[in-house]
Amino acid sequence: MNVHDSERLAGLLESAGYVPAAQGADADVVVFNTCAVRENADNRLYGNLGHLYPTKKNNPGMQIAVGGCLAQKDRSVIIDRAPWVDVVFGTHNLHRLPVLLERARHNAAAQVEIAEALEVFPSSLPARRASHHSAWVSISVGCDNTCTFCIVPSLRGGERDRRPGDVLAEVEALVADGALEITLLGQNVNSYGRSLGDPGAFARLLRACGNIEGLERVRFTSPHPRDFTDDVIEAMAQTPNVCPQLHMPLQSGSDAVLRRMRRSYRRERFLGIVERVREAIPRAAITTDIIVGFPGETEEDFADTLDVVRAARFAGAFTFKYSPRPGTPAAEMDGAVDPAVVSERYERLASLQDEMSWAENRAQVGRRVEILVSEGEGRKDSETGRLSGRARDGRLVHLLVTGPHAQDGVVRPGDVIEAVVTRGAPHHLTADGPLHSHRRTTAGDAWEAARSRGSEAGSEAGSEAGPEVLSPAGSMSAGSGQPAVSLGMPTLRTGPAAR
Ligand code: 5AD
Ligand code: SF4
Repeated sequence: MNVHDSERLAGLLESAGYVPAAQGADADVVVFNTCAVRENADNRLYGNLGHLYPTKKNNPGMQIAVGGCLAQKDRSVIIDRAPWVDVVFGTHNLHRLPVLLERARHNAAAQVEIAEALEVFPSSLPARRASHHSAWVSISVGCDNTCTFCIVPSLRGGERDRRPGDVLAEVEALVADGALEITLLGQNVNSYGRSLGDPGAFARLLRACGNIEGLERVRFTSPHPRDFTDDVIEAMAQTPNVCPQLHMPLQSGSDAVLRRMRRSYRRERFLGIVERVREAIPRAAITTDIIVGFPGETEEDFADTLDVVRAARFAGAFTFKYSPRPGTPAAEMDGAVDPAVVSERYERLASLQDEMSWAENRAQVGRRVEILVSEGEGRKDSETGRLSGRARDGRLVHLLVTGPHAQDGVVRPGDVIEAVVTRGAPHHLTADGPLHSHRRTTAGDAWEAARSRGSEAGSEAGSEAGPEVLSPAGSMSAGSGQPAVSLGMPTLRTGPAAR
């Protein structure tokens, strides 16, 4: 959701006449789109602001804006802690960024503007997309759940659903623009439609995506096991462009912990969904989120989590150490787990999950997979001459292509290829060798056109956490690069890093 919002922030600024600063150049405006879901996000913001202070001091015309969840939470505290910040805006009013930057310049005073309720659906704002071939489409914002560890509802508000017609119109426009893949976004996609009085709306939305000509891949994130109904599984299985992939957060495998988390499903229900998904979509790659060290988690509770991890055979998991968030019920709970114990459990979980992911990935060897080539998903691709992309089930694939397609520039990001998996590693597949097919796509054409124009859009397409630095049109800037909004496709991992 943050990547989606960052694309809107970049689009808004571009519409207001700003242009991206060249890589390595000093930007006149730096925007941080922040996350508050775990504590390390807080620390990172203030660390980054501190790093920027000397640059700002030497360049008083430069502006720094901070938006997103942490801004919604900390509000003017950001200015107290970093008085060199010019603009603070929240999750409900990101469309105000250009006006606030201008007002801060005009008044020569910091502007803090936080709204209590959503003013404009971010999806309706202009976007500067990081990728030609893949796009995020939000179907809802906010969340009506009350998971006791989670700060999201207090910062993003209650769930607001977009009308299906608006969602589909956006998907159609993206496909007309060359996108092959869309990911439908919501904090809880399974409750989509309830506020519209239509509980079957999500399954219908998936089926409707199936009718969009040219749309090759549909994904969604995230479902909630409590609300996950079989009509969604049927829609997934029966709609050919819905990818065989499910990211469904488990959080804990212990019923007692789930109860204290106020996650009102139990392990049996979770495993039942997994089983039905596998029955209906045998090759589905299922991934999850797990929190370790929730208050009161005993060794027995943790063993239950390991059991579910073994039984569910996840293709990957985002694993997190519990991080108390101010104002959430869990932050007030007794039974804090000793950090050394949390670390030790975290390591055990990560190594079990790695083992499982590795086994699942090794089982792919010999399979012919369709890969949507992307840019920036293989950090060393340019050194090693490899291509990278995602299989239909979401798995990351690296390839060292041999034969006629090996020549640089023949296969472009956005093109669709088929290759045979030669090796399974814990976090990716390898498919070295000749390609079985190569389809040039309009997304690939767009990437190539952007590259030959020397345009930043193409060269940044899909770049992982590549800095997105914007400066006002016409300004000249030079110097060292600055941290700013980063745009990119999240990758699956089992590390504690913030997403
Ligand atoms: N501590 C640790 N992890 C958390 N998550 C959300 N809140 C917290 C917290 N307080 C994790 C959950 C969620 C993912 C996005 O972040 O696993 O699914
Ligand atoms: Fe947070 Fe729970 Fe809502 Fe997810 S479903 S955003 S974890 S409150």
